[in-house]
Amino acid sequence: MLGIIGSPVTHSLSPLMHNTAIEALGLDYVYVPFAVPSDGLIQAVQGLRTLGVTGFNVTIPFKTAIMPYLDKLSPEAELIGAVTTVNREGNSFVGYNTDGRGLLRSLAEDLDFAPQGADILILGAGGAARGAIGALCEAGAESITIANRTRTNAEELLARFKKLFPRVKLDLCDLVDLTSTDFLHGIDLVVNTTSVGMNNTSFAGLDVSLMKPSTRIYDMVYAPLETPLLAEAKARGLKYANGLGMLAAQGEVAFALWTGCKPPSGMMRDCLLAAVEVK
Ligand code: ATR
Repeated sequence: MLGIIGSPVTHSLSPLMHNTAIEALGLDYVYVPFAVPSDGLIQAVQGLRTLGVTGFNVTIPFKTAIMPYLDKLSPEAELIGAVTTVNREGNSFVGYNTDGRGLLRSLAEDLDFAPQGADILILGAGGAARGAIGALCEAGAESITIANRTRTNAEELLARFKKLFPRVKLDLCDLVDLTSTDFLHGIDLVVNTTSVGMNNTSFAGLDVSLMKPSTRIYDMVYAPLETPLLAEAKARGLKYANGLGMLAAQGEVAFALWTGCKPPSGMMRDCLLAAVEVK
């Protein structure tokens, strides 16, 4: 048995993409969503151990809270400070963070983008931003600037990653006033890690027209498939991608950890796309 724990989880597309891959490969697994109340995490982890579950995904609000209840953490999970995938290895539950790898793979496949030497603007400073910043620093980014609604949250992240990656130029800027021509013109990649864009909301302070033609825009939001930020990127002729590729790529990484098998190429993305288009 495989699954996902979180609250809420009923909206999650992970059961669909994993069960589709399981069926296609004829594997003897099933992937189940487990809605766990926010005060029930310890009992849930104990229950999953006792029941002999092979592995599971972890989503909001447990990505950081689960860490003390696992036996071991991968270097990525430790670095990012969050777990998105747990795998049973012998009698141990080992925590991984597959989001960073998912983002890097999607950036390469969807935007033909490699972070080495790049100047990057991150919108947001929550859990998703941590994963992105950790992966981009490790992948050799030259500079990362964080713009967040609540400045203190960005400051916390900045201090953490400055200590971990003294080589990378890390800085903050104001989310409501991203209009400095010199700064924006130097940016190679913008990554939205916030939920802004989900309800057709947009970043009023970000002027995409000031970016150079080679700038890539990545939005982790995938419903709608084209957020106002991506629509603006499209209108300006910039390369852009939504978060569907990242969701599928992190799913492929988790699936391989659990089953030792690779899902058929493109299958997870195709079934996610079909599901989002129907909604
Ligand atoms: P996740 O794990 O998905 O990253 P999170 O840790 O709750 O979720 O972080 C959400 C991020 O989206 C934060 O950076 C949050 O900004 P604050 O630190 O100011 O809370 C950002 N965010 C959420 N709603 C937003 C909005 N309407 N405008 C701007 N930023 C928003």
